[in-house]
Amino acid sequence: MTTSTESFAVSAARSADLEARIVDHPERFRVLTGDRPTGALHLGHYFGTLANRVRLQRAGVEVFVVIADYQVITDRDGVGRLAGNVHELLLDYLAAGLDPTITTIFTHSAVPALNQLILPFLSLVTVPELERNPTVRAEAEAAGGRAVSGLLLTYPVHQAADILFCNGSVVPVGRDQLPHVEMTRLIARRFNERYAGGAPVFVEPDALLTTAPALLGTDGTKMSKSRGNAIELRATPDETARLIRRAKTDADRTITYDPVGRPEVASLLLTASLCTGSDPERIAASVGNGGGRALKDLVTEAVNEHLRPLRQRRAEFGADPGPVREVLRAGNTRATAIAGTTLDRVREVMDMAYSQWPPAVRPAGSPAG
Ligand code: TRP
Repeated sequence: MTTSTESFAVSAARSADLEARIVDHPERFRVLTGDRPTGALHLGHYFGTLANRVRLQRAGVEVFVVIADYQVITDRDGVGRLAGNVHELLLDYLAAGLDPTITTIFTHSAVPALNQLILPFLSLVTVPELERNPTVRAEAEAAGGRAVSGLLLTYPVHQAADILFCNGSVVPVGRDQLPHVEMTRLIARRFNERYAGGAPVFVEPDALLTTAPALLGTDGTKMSKSRGNAIELRATPDETARLIRRAKTDADRTITYDPVGRPEVASLLLTASLCTGSDPERIAASVGNGGGRALKDLVTEAVNEHLRPLRQRRAEFGADPGPVREVLRAGNTRATAIAGTTLDRVREVMDMAYSQWPPAVRPAGSPAG
C-alpha cells in the first residue's frame, strides 16, 4: 500500500465517523465548501456535491458556500464572463434547494477580511510545502507546463482562509481536495501555536469525503463543461435528450451493469439509478436486450423527470434577477461580518490591535488574547 492510499484510507474512515457524528448533532458543525465560478453546473456536480449540501442543510447543519472567484484566476488567462458565471451558479444553487435563510452564499472578492487572513497564514507555510501540494502540481501540469502563477502556488492557503474565517468544521470535498484540507489543519495548528500561545483561535476542520460515484460525460470521459460532454442542470428536456442520444455505449445489445468492463453503459445506468433511486442492476435487467437506444430513452426520461422541479424553480429565479442578487448581497454582508470578527481576533493575538492602544495589561506569561 502506498502512503497516499494509506492516508486516503485514514481520511475515508475519519469521514465516515464524522458523517455519523453530524447526523447525531448537526448543530455542533459548520460546513464550508465552494465552487469556482466557471459556469452553469451539470449532473456530475449535482450528484457529486450539490445534493449533498442540500442534504446537510436539511439535516440542520449551518452551511457556507464560497463562490471562489479569486480561484478561477489562478491558472487561466481568460475566465469568461465572471459576473454571468456567478449568476448561473446562484441559479443552480437556489434551484437545487440551497436555502439562503440558512445557507450563506458569498464570493471571495466581496469579503476583504477573509482575503487578509492569507497574509499571516502565508507566514506559516514554506515554499517547499506549497510546491509539494499534489493538487497544485497536477493543476500546473494540466496548464501545459507553463510557469505557475503565484496565486496558483498559494491558492491552498487561500482555501484555508475560506475555511478558517468562519471556523468551518466540516469540508465536503472530493479526493483531489484532501491536500488542501490537510494544509488548512496545518495552518490552524501552527497559527494557534506560533501566534496565540496555544489558544484555540482556529479549529482544525475535517474533510467529509464525497461518497457519490463519479458520472462520466456522454463521450465516456470525465464529465466536464469544457469537454462539451456534460448534461447541464439548466438544459431543456430536448437538449438533454439530444445529448444522451449522442452518448457513447458499446456493441453489446444486452444491457448489464459492469462498471469495469462497460464503463459508458454503467455510467448511464448509474445516472438513471441516481435519478430514480432504483438499483443500476435492476434498471439494466429492465432494459435487457433493448440495446443502447432503449437504455438512452430510459435515462433521458429519468433525468428529465428528476430535474423537472429543479428546472422549473430555476426558470422562476432566472426570470427575476433582483432577488437572486439580493441573496448574494446578504451572504456577502454576513460573511464580511464574520470575517471581520475573526480578523479582529487575529490582530489581537498577534499584537496588532493598535486601535486598542494602550494595550490591556496582562499578567506576565499569559498567552495573548
Ligand atoms: N478549490 C475548490 C474547487 O476547485 C473550490 C473551493 C474554494 C473550496 N474554496 C473552498 C472547496 C473551500 C472547499 C472549501 O472545487
